Amino acid sequence: MTVQDKDIKEILFTEEQLHSKIQELGKAITKDYVGKDLLMVSILKGSVMVMADLMRAVDLPLEIDFMNVSSYGSGTETKGSVKILKDLDVDIKGKDLLIVEDILDSGVTLHNLINLLKQREPRSIEICTLFSKPDRRQVEVEAKYLGFEIPDAFIVGYGLDYAEKYRNLPYVGILKEEVYS
Ligand code: IMP
Ligand code: MG
Repeated sequence: MTVQDKDIKEILFTEEQLHSKIQELGKAITKDYVGKDLLMVSILKGSVMVMADLMRAVDLPLEIDFMNVSSYGSGTETKGSVKILKDLDVDIKGKDLLIVEDILDSGVTLHNLINLLKQREPRSIEICTLFSKPDRRQVEVEAKYLGFEIPDAFIVGYGLDYAEKYRNLPYVGILKEEVYS
């Protein structure tokens, strides 16, 4: 047992389970994007693991880019605003954008981001998220590619953090309560 493993109460998804789900998603994306101009956009930092594995599971010519955003929150006045911490490097006009996320929670971040990116006139925008917590949704967001639906619990590992730690765990688990306190 490693130093980090000791903080984990329960493993929800093993490395093997994550790998086979990513392969499945990659196959579906490969099938759908034949003949398109695919640009995979990873939303930093949580989706780096998903991105690294998923891009290798897509058997097509494609481009990648990275973006980092923060939402101003879910209050009615701030809805629709998203702060760009790191913008895309490439022009997305006419491209088939696939946003790659780790987890869809309230949906606020992705909802706002999609609205912002649509103004740049890509040909299409779809979302691929490894996890989704449907019970937590505040705004409607449609993810065409979804790995696992999970109940409302805070998970870490495979890119997902608690206070910026645990992103490097190869599996996904739930933290012990004592870690938070
Ligand atoms: P939302 O959908 O706008 O609420 O924000 C989703 C973001 O919240 C994700 O990209 C994660 O960074 C973070 N997040 C939500 N749930 C979890 C979790 O269970 N573990 C770690 N990060 C989470
Ligand atoms: Mg994130």
